[in-house]
Amino acid sequence: MEREEAPLAGAAWWAPEAPHRERLGSRRLALALSASVLILVVLHAAVSVGTHSSHVVHVVLRGLYLFPIIAGALWFGLAGGLLTAVGVSASYLAHILVSWRGQTMENVNQFAMIGVYLAFGGVSGLLVRARERQRALRIAEERLAERTALIEGIAGLVAALGFRDDYTRQHCERVSELAVAIGSRFDMSAERLEALRLAALTHDIGKIGVPDDILYKPEALSQTERARIERHPHIASEILSRIHGARDIAEIVLCHHECPDGSGYPRGLRAEQIPLEAHILRVADVYSALTDVRTYRPALRHGQALDLMAEWGQGKLDEESLRALRSLGAADLTDQKSILESEANHARHER
Ligand SMILES: [Fe+2]
Repeated sequence: MEREEAPLAGAAWWAPEAPHRERLGSRRLALALSASVLILVVLHAAVSVGTHSSHVVHVVLRGLYLFPIIAGALWFGLAGGLLTAVGVSASYLAHILVSWRGQTMENVNQFAMIGVYLAFGGVSGLLVRARERQRALRIAEERLAERTALIEGIAGLVAALGFRDDYTRQHCERVSELAVAIGSRFDMSAERLEALRLAALTHDIGKIGVPDDILYKPEALSQTERARIERHPHIASEILSRIHGARDIAEIVLCHHECPDGSGYPRGLRAEQIPLEAHILRVADVYSALTDVRTYRPALRHGQALDLMAEWGQGKLDEESLRALRSLGAADLTDQKSILESEANHARHER
């Protein structure tokens, strides 16, 4: 997947982004521009200066050349304005040389007009460029404000989760770091990686809606209790989808217990229906759970967890994400503290 460009990066200094180019197509606009210049050249050459009234029309046509120059700047920025001005000037120069050769006084007037065309092309191009840069800056500011609001909203949710269940909050933070480390092994855009990070941070937020006696029950869960637990992706997605700009995050979270073979929940999606981010999140979640101490078992070592995931993960975990997890060295695993703790716990249990 290609990395998305920031709004300003997409706009070349000489030809800023222009919505009308996207709508109508550069080729069509360039053709319209060339045709309008050509029509003006033909009309200009055809209207004689024999009578006073036709001379007026001739002069007006000379002024009308400014319109395609402005259109060139509006449609193609500085380059468009200058190129159209050069084209108009060249045809006008030909007209001067053919029709007005040796008429010095008139020629001075005409060459001044060529100067006006070129200056107009440059100035209108620069004005359009300034306007487009302003537009791009405004869009960038709006995006930043939206992103800040989103991150603050998510931070609020994570804090709420911490008050309800601090263990789950810590688990979410570990999963988030690991998911980003795995995600960075894929050719994902910065925006997608950020969505993955935020989705991982909130993936178990839905446990807020699961009663304590089920959430912390040490014994095996009944079918009804399991169904209550399995509603947590739905609850999380419902909470997240109410935050502006968090729809994609809500979708990733909704899918974090889906399995490639379709045996997951809540929708029983198959591999290709599950977003890559949800595959990665699931692998990070399972790894983090295995290498963490649970009341019913010691934490697994890094290698043991990977072996178990490879064996058990057939159809249950995305193979590419597993490979990416395997490719992470100790230095890549941002959750090294937890791994070291796991190693220590494991050693204690072995004694
Ligand atoms: Fe979960």
